[in-house]
Amino acid sequence: MVTTEIIKINFSLELESQLIEAVELLKSGEIVAIPTETVYGLAANALDQNAVMKIFKAKGRPSDNPLIVHVSDIDMLYKYVDKLNELSLKLIDTFFPGPLTLILKKSEKIPYITTGGLDTVAIRMPSNEIALNLIKILNKPLAAPSANLSGKPSPTNANDVFEDLQGKIKLILDGGSTEIGLESTVIDISDIDSIPVILRPGIITKEEIENCLGIAIQQESENKSLNDIIKSPGMKYRHYAPNADLILFNSSEEINYYLANNIEINLSKISLIIDLEQFDKLLLPDSFNDTNLYVYSSTQELAVNLYSKIRELDRLKVDTILVQFIPSDSLGRAIYNRLKKSSVQI
Ligand code: TXA
Ligand code: MG
Repeated sequence: MVTTEIIKINFSLELESQLIEAVELLKSGEIVAIPTETVYGLAANALDQNAVMKIFKAKGRPSDNPLIVHVSDIDMLYKYVDKLNELSLKLIDTFFPGPLTLILKKSEKIPYITTGGLDTVAIRMPSNEIALNLIKILNKPLAAPSANLSGKPSPTNANDVFEDLQGKIKLILDGGSTEIGLESTVIDISDIDSIPVILRPGIITKEEIENCLGIAIQQESENKSLNDIIKSPGMKYRHYAPNADLILFNSSEEINYYLANNIEINLSKISLIIDLEQFDKLLLPDSFNDTNLYVYSSTQELAVNLYSKIRELDRLKVDTILVQFIPSDSLGRAIYNRLKKSSVQI
């Protein structure tokens, strides 16, 4: 066990001096949790095999699940990919820095432990100032998966990182709550002879990418063949799951039906996430505890708060989290993708 320090970044002070400790730790082969604009990441020097091994150990992550390599500028990016095709240059031009991860053929400099044994590497340039500056000062790419224990929801604030990794890492940089709240869009563009495929939907949508590239691309379906699973190793594991059972519903009618048919349920052990419009139609028994309730008023609001709310409700030690959600746009589909992976079937 190590003592986990949290350094709260003060944005009104100069940033560089507040990053010194993190830089020193990373230089010496340690791992540090850092904010990005999407979710918090657990970072190590992507070129240092021993440091990268510590990430897998702290998270309890299977070693065949590859990590995203974060860079601070295009020159750095060029060093770690085999070559950049025309399509990837367009995407970089339009979306970097930001919440988009490109899967490309890796250069020899990236060790196989970072890519889970694959010949491709996932690369992203975060727009978060703390992450960008850290990489710049260190002058090394940072391998960073989301800073949760493997299988848990991604952390969107320093407290949620602490909950999962306390005693396992030396430092968390606290940059406040993340702006986006969902992980980056991941697109496989490594094979120039095939159509690019979105492996993980996110806030940067298929339509935006198609507009940028001027061609139609594919989005991996929820029901994957074995071949697809091998293509994206992370997809085969259960994800984003709280301790409580998360059950997904389309409408308040479905929830009403569920509650009416499960009268033995202890209502104090149930929590609920629901859209404001649907909430009005819900027949909630009086004995339902309001502290177990989160009513959201837009898809955008839910995206930002989803993971932190799920963690908050989980801390109340409920048995079940009922979630009502229908995707109505691309962001909705990204949320739905996470909810599906974290839910149990009824
Ligand atoms: O927003 C994000 O992407 C956050 C922040 C910290 O950058 N990171 C993140 O990393 O979500 P992680 O490790 O939790 O998710 C990365 C996903 C996994 O599903 C992994 O399997 C996939 O990207 N991935 C990484 N490298 C890959 C590769 N070479 N080929 C296919 N999939 C890859
Ligand atoms: Mg993750």
